[in-house]
Amino acid sequence: MFKRIKRNWFVPKGAEMTELDKKILAFQNRGCLVPSRKVIKTPEQIEGIRRSGVVNTGVLDLVAREIHAGMTTLEIDKLVYDYTVEHGAIPAPLNYEGFPKSCCTSINEVVCHGIPNEFEVLKEGDIINVDVSTILDGYFSDASRMFVIGETTPAKQKLVDVARECLDIGMEAAHPFGFVGDIGHAIEQHAKKNGFSIVRDLCGHGVGLEFHEEPDVEHFGKNGTGMLLVPGMVFTIEPMVNMGDWRVFVDEDYGWTVVTEDELPSAQWEHTFLMTEEGLEILTY
Ligand code: MF3
Ligand code: CO
Repeated sequence: MFKRIKRNWFVPKGAEMTELDKKILAFQNRGCLVPSRKVIKTPEQIEGIRRSGVVNTGVLDLVAREIHAGMTTLEIDKLVYDYTVEHGAIPAPLNYEGFPKSCCTSINEVVCHGIPNEFEVLKEGDIINVDVSTILDGYFSDASRMFVIGETTPAKQKLVDVARECLDIGMEAAHPFGFVGDIGHAIEQHAKKNGFSIVRDLCGHGVGLEFHEEPDVEHFGKNGTGMLLVPGMVFTIEPMVNMGDWRVFVDEDYGWTVVTEDELPSAQWEHTFLMTEEGLEILTY
């Protein structure tokens, strides 16, 4: 028997075989993991996700203007909630699998999925990731940025900058009919070169019609591995870069908050991207 491969791609009954079908089937027949048809977005769906991305970017721009030392993470959450609903949208994290707030606020050694609360006050030198995800007319978008509160140490500033570079480098490494692994490989190399490590337990993801879709977008790996990248796919890249070791644990609170095991700081940036014939386009600019 042939080694069993996941036959994600097939030509629907009664449909003509297109050039795109032939191309994707050729990859699949060579044993490559290919997307299923539903993750290739239609032009109408892409427009919907783009509009959702505009609101999502508006939220992050608002946070960028308002964030300051002395503010609580609950106040950030309120900004996110109010802006989102005022723009006819819904914060995707709210009540998502038990997540109690409208965004994630992850300070210093918190890697991701920090939960906004009234006790956590931002202070000079903190680095914080604010992760915002929006549902508009049923379409999902997802992006996050780092904010430095006042001035931080050179080491933490470098971590924030390298994490940002990792996102850009991952974006540049993605090509139509390349592979998800090309992205991860480029990101991991850049983090390592700077003496940092990449979190392995969390990944980017397909997004658009749901919060989390295929493929998994790992931020480490080998070129030519992982899912085939096809124009029309929409997914996030969201590297989490640690100053120390890559290992993390999940805090007990709601079973959400991810923290570095060595308690050294972590930084993350995220965009939602559309794969086009030319490469990636940012939908959350
Ligand atoms: N943007 C985050 C991610 O893709 C959202 C996590 S789910 C939440 O990892 F409920 F925590 F928001
Ligand atoms: Co995400």
